[in-house]
Amino acid sequence: MERSPLAEWLDQIVCGDALELLPRLPANSVDLVLTDPPYFLDKLDNEWTPERAARRFYKSQAVFHLPPGMKFDPNQGRRMYEWYLEVSRELLRVLKPGGFFFSFSSPRLFHRMACAVEDAGFHIRDTFLWLYTQNQPKAMGVAHFIERMPLSEHTKQSLKERLSGWKTPQVKSCYEPIVVAQKPYEGTFLENMLQYGVGLFHTEVRIGQNMFPANVLLVEGVEETLDKYFLVPKPSVEERGAFNQHPAVKPLALCEYLIQLAAPEGAVVLDPFLGSGTTALAAHNLKRRYIGIEINPEYVAIARQRLQHFTPSLFGEC
Ligand SMILES: C[S@@+](CC[C@H](N)C(=O)[O-])C[C@H]1O[C@@H](n2cnc3c(N)ncnc32)[C@H](O)[C@@H]1O
Repeated sequence: MERSPLAEWLDQIVCGDALELLPRLPANSVDLVLTDPPYFLDKLDNEWTPERAARRFYKSQAVFHLPPGMKFDPNQGRRMYEWYLEVSRELLRVLKPGGFFFSFSSPRLFHRMACAVEDAGFHIRDTFLWLYTQNQPKAMGVAHFIERMPLSEHTKQSLKERLSGWKTPQVKSCYEPIVVAQKPYEGTFLENMLQYGVGLFHTEVRIGQNMFPANVLLVEGVEETLDKYFLVPKPSVEERGAFNQHPAVKPLALCEYLIQLAAPEGAVVLDPFLGSGTTALAAHNLKRRYIGIEINPEYVAIARQRLQHFTPSLFGEC
């Protein structure tokens, strides 16, 4: 029997740079891409490491303890666009016609991500909005900057009083957009589905109280009406594991929901920025095949542990 050119990749977590590894995947072989790439906010770009993300000391700045994602740089979006355009071109090549590409993003750089995906050749079909209520507000007051100004104590004090309550322009971020892109399909939707097994949404997948799938999603109960329409059912398995120290673990329920919507049982789900392995775990739970790529060996180890069985690397250990 002829071996599929994808066989050696299936149910593997491969350690390496997605941009180097994706070109090795066969064209038109993957059913769904679900990924949560680096958001390109400061310290969270495509070269992030746990050490770098944890390093919070900027000696040249007045404020030392800036958590990842706080520092504003207008070039972050441009850098993300250029990098994600290259990534998206490869994903377009490996996806089957009509295959979906779900990409998490940040409210601030979502526009750049969506343009990169579209410019690579995908059709943008929708945007999911994952809503949540808890997050750390990132706005900073100005008192410590005033403190460092060469002014008299009296002037500093009156400036602080005048600007009391005024902070950097960042409200609490309470949603993440998820781009819904589709590789152009061949013929009609139906013809494409019959030929490649992808291209339609399985709308019997329900959210809330037996509701038709919507593009607003919640994974924590918030309020009766919202929950009724938008709450994604929780999977039964344990979420992340105590050993999982990844700083950006996505909810398993969300990944399971998205996979069920766009890829039938047995389908191949690719995550080129696997992190701690949530996409792979979701695919595995739902009897889909997974391919995970992750650049950081520590996260690869966590992902493999979450999958609870060791999947030897195709390309040796990092
Ligand atoms: C936002 S995290 C993914 C988190 C994941 N969804 C989870 O639930 O654990 C993005 C991941 O992309 C990885 N990464 C960054 N640049 C990469 C690259 N060029 N190739 C592969 N992985 C990369 C980072 O190490 C990080 O773990």
